[in-house]
Amino acid sequence: MTTAQPPARQTRQRRKITVAATDDLPPGARVEVQTGRAVIAVFNVDGEYYALFGRCPHQSAPLSRGRLQGTVICNAETCWETEWAFDGEILVCPGHGMEYHVKSGEAIGYDLKLRTYEVVVEEGQVILLL
Ligand code: FES
Repeated sequence: MTTAQPPARQTRQRRKITVAATDDLPPGARVEVQTGRAVIAVFNVDGEYYALFGRCPHQSAPLSRGRLQGTVICNAETCWETEWAFDGEILVCPGHGMEYHVKSGEAIGYDLKLRTYEVVVEEGQVILLL
């Protein structure tokens, strides 16, 4: 009698794309990467790398050209007082000013989230994992 074995779990090999040398992407810098039909914007925020879909869903402005700043929040956590938050982590669309949290891809004030991608550093190179 044979016992059926569960199928071996297949692991998909992730594609690696070298974005830049870490020296070429210092804090505050960004670069746009074209991969197939996708455009991805990669940012260095205080030494950490983040990658987002590179086009604004509103009218497709290139998000790699947006500035990084903070934003004003006002919610129950701030007792409904306005407060400056996420300094340096808010990407402002160069088109019409929509704001996105660069670490999560979430739009500020809208129920919308940009696709995010994993970024790693290997041997001094910034690598995008797809
Ligand atoms: S294109 Fe980004 S807000 Fe309009």
